[in-house]
Amino acid sequence: MATTAKSQSTSKSRKKTRRTGTRDPLAVKLLKQDHRQVEAWFDEYEQLEADAEKLELFNQIALALKVHTQIEEEIFYPEERGEVEDDMLDEAYVEHDGAKKLIAEIEGMQPSEEYYDAKVKVLGEYIKHHVKEEEQPGGIFAQAKRGEEDLDAMGERIKVRKEELMQKMGASRPN
Ligand SMILES: [Fe+2]
Ligand SMILES: [Fe+2]
Repeated sequence: MATTAKSQSTSKSRKKTRRTGTRDPLAVKLLKQDHRQVEAWFDEYEQLEADAEKLELFNQIALALKVHTQIEEEIFYPEERGEVEDDMLDEAYVEHDGAKKLIAEIEGMQPSEEYYDAKVKVLGEYIKHHVKEEEQPGGIFAQAKRGEEDLDAMGERIKVRKEELMQKMGASRPN
Protein backbone atom coordinates (compact mmCIF):
# COMPACT_ATOMS: atom_id res chain seq x y z
CA MET A 1 0.00 0.00 0.00
CA ALA A 2 1.40 3.38 -0.95
CA THR A 3 0.71 5.33 2.21
CA THR A 4 2.39 8.48 0.96
CA ALA A 5 0.12 8.76 -2.04
CA LYS A 6 -2.87 8.16 0.19
CA SER A 7 -2.05 10.92 2.65
CA GLN A 8 -1.52 13.27 -0.23
CA SER A 9 -4.89 12.62 -1.77
CA THR A 10 -6.81 12.88 1.49
CA SER A 11 -5.11 16.11 2.59
CA LYS A 12 -7.00 18.08 0.01
CA SER A 13 -10.72 17.57 0.33
CA ARG A 14 -11.50 19.58 -2.75
CA LYS A 15 -15.12 19.43 -3.68
CA LYS A 16 -15.51 17.49 -6.84
CA THR A 17 -17.31 19.38 -9.53
CA ARG A 18 -17.80 16.91 -12.28
CA ARG A 19 -18.09 19.36 -15.13
CA THR A 20 -16.64 17.27 -17.85
CA GLY A 21 -18.83 18.61 -20.59
CA THR A 22 -21.57 16.12 -19.81
CA ARG A 23 -24.32 18.59 -19.04
CA ASP A 24 -27.70 16.89 -18.91
CA PRO A 25 -29.86 17.76 -21.89
CA LEU A 26 -33.33 19.02 -21.00
CA ALA A 27 -35.21 15.73 -21.39
CA VAL A 28 -32.85 13.95 -18.99
CA LYS A 29 -32.79 16.90 -16.62
CA LEU A 30 -36.59 16.96 -16.35
CA LEU A 31 -36.91 13.21 -15.87
CA LYS A 32 -34.22 13.28 -13.17
CA GLN A 33 -36.02 16.14 -11.44
CA ASP A 34 -39.14 13.97 -11.30
CA HIS A 35 -37.09 11.14 -9.79
CA ARG A 36 -35.66 13.38 -7.04
CA GLN A 37 -39.10 14.77 -6.26
CA VAL A 38 -40.72 11.37 -5.85
CA GLU A 39 -37.79 10.03 -3.81
CA ALA A 40 -38.19 12.98 -1.42
CA TRP A 41 -41.90 12.23 -1.10
CA PHE A 42 -41.28 8.57 -0.30
CA ASP A 43 -38.87 9.68 2.46
CA GLU A 44 -41.45 12.15 3.73
CA TYR A 45 -44.10 9.43 3.81
CA GLU A 46 -42.05 7.50 6.37
CA GLN A 47 -42.39 10.36 8.84
CA LEU A 48 -46.18 10.53 8.64
CA GLU A 49 -48.53 9.18 11.27
CA ALA A 50 -51.98 10.45 10.36
CA ASP A 51 -53.94 8.41 7.84
CA ALA A 52 -55.34 11.49 6.09
CA GLU A 53 -51.83 12.80 5.51
CA LYS A 54 -50.63 9.44 4.28
CA LEU A 55 -53.49 9.24 1.82
CA GLU A 56 -52.88 12.74 0.53
CA LEU A 57 -49.15 12.20 0.06
CA PHE A 58 -49.64 8.80 -1.54
CA ASN A 59 -52.08 10.30 -4.04
CA GLN A 60 -49.49 12.92 -4.86
CA ILE A 61 -46.83 10.26 -5.38
CA ALA A 62 -49.18 8.12 -7.47
CA LEU A 63 -50.10 11.01 -9.76
CA ALA A 64 -46.46 11.98 -10.24
CA LEU A 65 -45.49 8.39 -11.05
CA LYS A 66 -48.36 7.90 -13.50
CA VAL A 67 -47.54 11.09 -15.35
CA HIS A 68 -43.83 10.32 -15.36
CA THR A 69 -44.15 6.75 -16.59
CA GLN A 70 -46.62 7.79 -19.28
CA ILE A 71 -44.25 10.48 -20.55
CA GLU A 72 -41.41 7.99 -20.70
CA GLU A 73 -43.60 5.46 -22.50
CA GLU A 74 -45.06 7.97 -24.95
CA ILE A 75 -41.98 10.03 -25.69
CA PHE A 76 -38.66 9.04 -24.17
CA TYR A 77 -38.56 5.27 -24.50
CA PRO A 78 -40.00 4.95 -28.03
CA GLU A 79 -37.81 7.75 -29.37
CA GLU A 80 -34.76 6.12 -27.81
CA ARG A 81 -35.39 2.76 -29.49
CA GLY A 82 -32.31 2.19 -31.54
CA GLU A 83 -30.15 4.37 -29.30
CA VAL A 84 -30.62 2.40 -26.07
CA GLU A 85 -30.23 -1.39 -25.79
CA ASP A 86 -33.54 -3.13 -26.49
CA ASP A 87 -33.31 -5.37 -23.43
CA MET A 88 -32.93 -2.39 -21.16
CA LEU A 89 -35.94 -0.62 -22.62
CA ASP A 90 -38.03 -3.79 -22.51
CA GLU A 91 -37.20 -4.26 -18.83
CA ALA A 92 -38.06 -0.65 -18.13
CA TYR A 93 -41.55 -1.12 -19.60
CA VAL A 94 -42.05 -4.26 -17.53
CA GLU A 95 -40.92 -2.44 -14.39
CA HIS A 96 -43.37 0.36 -15.14
CA ASP A 97 -46.15 -2.20 -15.40
CA GLY A 98 -45.17 -3.69 -12.06
CA ALA A 99 -45.22 -0.26 -10.44
CA LYS A 100 -48.62 0.55 -11.96
CA LYS A 101 -50.12 -2.63 -10.59
CA LEU A 102 -48.82 -1.92 -7.12
CA ILE A 103 -50.07 1.67 -7.31
CA ALA A 104 -53.54 0.45 -8.32
CA GLU A 105 -53.51 -2.02 -5.45
CA ILE A 106 -52.63 0.68 -2.92
CA GLU A 107 -55.27 2.99 -4.40
CA GLY A 108 -57.84 0.35 -3.63
CA MET A 109 -56.91 0.38 0.05
CA GLN A 110 -57.18 2.69 3.03
CA PRO A 111 -54.09 3.75 5.02
CA SER A 112 -55.62 2.14 8.12
CA GLU A 113 -55.49 -1.28 6.47
CA GLU A 114 -52.84 -3.84 7.21
CA TYR A 115 -49.89 -3.76 4.78
CA TYR A 116 -50.73 -0.29 3.42
CA ASP A 117 -47.49 1.24 4.71
CA ALA A 118 -45.56 -1.85 3.70
CA LYS A 119 -46.88 -1.62 0.15
CA VAL A 120 -45.98 2.06 -0.11
CA LYS A 121 -42.52 1.21 1.18
CA VAL A 122 -42.06 -1.60 -1.33
CA LEU A 123 -43.27 0.66 -4.12
CA GLY A 124 -40.62 3.19 -3.09
CA GLU A 125 -37.90 0.54 -3.18
CA TYR A 126 -39.14 -0.71 -6.52
CA ILE A 127 -39.03 2.80 -7.95
CA LYS A 128 -35.55 3.33 -6.52
CA HIS A 129 -34.34 0.24 -8.33
CA HIS A 130 -35.95 1.34 -11.58
CA VAL A 131 -34.52 4.86 -11.31
CA LYS A 132 -31.08 3.34 -10.85
CA GLU A 133 -31.47 1.40 -14.09
CA GLU A 134 -32.26 4.68 -15.82
CA GLU A 135 -29.59 6.85 -14.21
CA GLN A 136 -26.61 4.57 -13.55
CA PRO A 137 -23.47 4.72 -15.71
CA GLY A 138 -24.20 2.85 -18.90
CA GLY A 139 -27.91 2.93 -18.09
CA ILE A 140 -30.80 4.19 -20.19
CA PHE A 141 -30.12 7.90 -19.77
CA ALA A 142 -26.38 7.51 -20.34
CA GLN A 143 -26.99 5.57 -23.52
CA ALA A 144 -29.58 8.11 -24.66
CA LYS A 145 -27.12 10.94 -24.11
CA ARG A 146 -24.62 9.22 -26.36
CA GLY A 147 -27.23 8.86 -29.08
CA GLU A 148 -28.33 11.08 -31.92
CA GLU A 149 -31.69 12.32 -30.62
CA ASP A 150 -32.04 16.00 -29.78
CA LEU A 151 -32.77 15.62 -26.09
CA ASP A 152 -33.18 19.36 -25.54
CA ALA A 153 -35.97 19.54 -28.11
CA MET A 154 -37.50 16.39 -26.63
CA GLY A 155 -37.39 18.08 -23.23
CA GLU A 156 -39.57 20.90 -24.53
CA ARG A 157 -42.17 18.36 -25.64
CA ILE A 158 -41.92 16.56 -22.32
CA LYS A 159 -42.65 19.82 -20.50
CA VAL A 160 -45.82 20.43 -22.51
CA ARG A 161 -47.02 16.86 -22.16
CA LYS A 162 -46.39 16.89 -18.43
CA GLU A 163 -48.62 19.96 -18.03
CA GLU A 164 -51.40 18.27 -20.00
CA LEU A 165 -51.18 14.99 -18.15
CA MET A 166 -51.02 16.61 -14.71
CA GLN A 167 -54.27 18.39 -15.48
CA LYS A 168 -55.97 15.42 -17.08
CA MET A 169 -54.91 12.78 -14.57
CA GLY A 170 -55.01 15.12 -11.60
CA ALA A 171 -58.64 15.85 -12.29
CA SER A 172 -59.67 12.22 -12.57
CA ARG A 173 -57.91 10.58 -9.69
CA PRO A 174 -59.71 8.50 -7.11
CA ASN A 175 -60.93 9.59 -3.65
FE1 LIG B 1 -39.00 4.78 -16.04
FE1 LIG C 1 -37.93 7.65 -14.93
